[in-house]
Amino acid sequence: MIQLFRVSKIYPPNYPALTDIHLHVEKGEFVFLSGASGAGKTTLLKLLFREEEVTEGQIIVNGRNVTRLDGGGVAGMRQEIGLVFQEFKLLPTMSALENVALAAEVVGMSRRESRRRAFHLLRELGLKDKHDARPLTLSGGEQQRVAIARALVNDPILVLADEPTGNLDGDMAEETMKLFLKIHEKGTTIMIATHDAGLLKRFQHRAVLLQRGRLMGDSKPAKDEVVP
Ligand SMILES: Nc1ncnc2c1ncn2[C@@H]1O[C@H](COP(=O)(O)OP(=O)(O)OP(=O)(O)O)[C@@H](O)[C@H]1O
Ligand SMILES: [Mg+2]
Repeated sequence: MIQLFRVSKIYPPNYPALTDIHLHVEKGEFVFLSGASGAGKTTLLKLLFREEEVTEGQIIVNGRNVTRLDGGGVAGMRQEIGLVFQEFKLLPTMSALENVALAAEVVGMSRRESRRRAFHLLRELGLKDKHDARPLTLSGGEQQRVAIARALVNDPILVLADEPTGNLDGDMAEETMKLFLKIHEKGTTIMIATHDAGLLKRFQHRAVLLQRGRLMGDSKPAKDEVVP
């Protein structure tokens, strides 16, 4: 599902955020991307959906060479990915439900089905009473859950999440993780960046460790692969 071949990212003018990363994630895997603040976790996720471009190396996501896509290709790839990022970018004039449903409508789902899905997802995320609320009247953790619902509404084949439990208290973080596990059980590939060691301990999944932009540990090391 995800392959990185000798990937490096240097931010201008000369900051090496990632160096020589080699990583292979199979379809259906659940992977934590761990490492201290500044290690390069967010950068790696951004390379995967072409928010940032590699300086060197190749990235394949679901069979597409991300490093060579044109604008249309990038849009197509992003439709298959559910993104949960720290800045939620919820639309302030729409309700929580409308924010989630809109993400489904724009890729062609009927209004009725979009709203039905949004309704169920928000309920699963503990926002039953907040369907009609505008994002700015929600707490940080509630906004985060709306953003998670929005990322999941189109049944993505891959979910990339950047500190998705960062703003949540213990119980809600636990509930949110359980939701990710549930989607994972349906066969979705999941990659979650976190510096929360507790999360890694609590949920025993593959963990990849970045240190100062280098891959320094992997609880399931990749076999040697042929560089294309
Ligand atoms: N747009 C940018 N321009 C220049 N440097 C950047 C840029 N984005 C990130 N960096 C630098 O690259 C390094 C890696 O940043 P990144 O955001 O990937 O780390 P992170 O592991 O996600 O950290 P955190 O846990 O704090 O979110 C940092 O030193 C950061 O300052
Ligand atoms: Mg980060």
